[in-house]
Amino acid sequence: MAKEIVLSGIRSTGNLHLGNYYGALSKFVRMQNDFDCMFFIADLHALTTHPDPLTLHTNVKSILAEYLAAGIDPEKATIFVQSDVPEISELYLLLNMHVGIGELMRTASFKDKARKALGITTGSSNNDDEDIERQIIGNESNKRVNAGLLTYPTLMAVDILIQKAHKVPVGKDQEQHLELTRRFARRFNSYYGVDLFPEPVNFDFGGAPVKVPGLDGSGKMGKSEGNCIYLIDEEKVLRKKVMRAVTDEGPKEPGSPLSQPIANLFSLLELTSTPEVVKQFRDAYADCSIRYGDLKKQLAEDILKVTTPIRERINEYINDEAYLGRVVRQGAERARERASKTLSEVREIMGIRKF
Ligand code: TRP
Repeated sequence: MAKEIVLSGIRSTGNLHLGNYYGALSKFVRMQNDFDCMFFIADLHALTTHPDPLTLHTNVKSILAEYLAAGIDPEKATIFVQSDVPEISELYLLLNMHVGIGELMRTASFKDKARKALGITTGSSNNDDEDIERQIIGNESNKRVNAGLLTYPTLMAVDILIQKAHKVPVGKDQEQHLELTRRFARRFNSYYGVDLFPEPVNFDFGGAPVKVPGLDGSGKMGKSEGNCIYLIDEEKVLRKKVMRAVTDEGPKEPGSPLSQPIANLFSLLELTSTPEVVKQFRDAYADCSIRYGDLKKQLAEDILKVTTPIRERINEYINDEAYLGRVVRQGAERARERASKTLSEVREIMGIRKF
């Protein structure tokens, strides 16, 4: 029996960090043995935020090197760049004919980005939607809320549907996009009375989702939060970041609960260290003998054990343009095979026929 198709992508907006590694890359590596995996770099999606052209290309290249360095094997999985598959852009146009502006405007990610671009900070008022709508329609200077941003979910749905993927490993923040993808698939199938697109489901391989917090004492690690440890961080930089991580004044009495910043450090330690080391620091916290400096030193060492070999491989791949070129050309060929088949089917179904 043919293996199920697993597909996921990462937007090329900068280097990958420890959150990407534990949340996505390391899972992709495990999946590639058991499924027909397709992992791509969403460079068209990155265009919604207007990177300068040189940066866009640099980012595509670095994510490609990071995919490979993390252990994604181009002989097992299909690795490709979204813009190398022009069929995606055509299906995006066709599918958009069946997507409502209203449903796109109600998408949380769109509202977030529009709010940011418009400088609306409240976010919680009842007439939030109206505020956004009025400003988008009424204000000529707001070109930053571009149509690409609005139709982001269409493009993502096409990435998935054009490959007829069954399983899509993505984080919580992408769940709504996946829900829309299912809705678009159902809608297309029922409108034309066909059974073309499978409805993809999220795929969390290996149990509970991992939490990778940042170093600033608040929430999860994220590029826009500026609290990241990058896979390419040099030893010195990485150590410095960890040593500067936010802490608190220390446990006041035995058995004190953990504050958020300290709980975050323990989460990171749990990901990268051995159970014995974690226990040693937990015990030290419980009896108030813990020294945060020691905890951070240990954490930095253990993170480096994970990232150093990856960083070394990233640097090798980055400098091997010929190899990177071969990987993406082979990937594009495989991705286009499926994509062009699906696109022909859609064209036929919609009545776009050759004379
Ligand atoms: N929107 C996703 C993100 O920001 C990236 C992405 C684009 C994607 N197309 C996809 C993920 C298709 C999974 C499948 O993380």
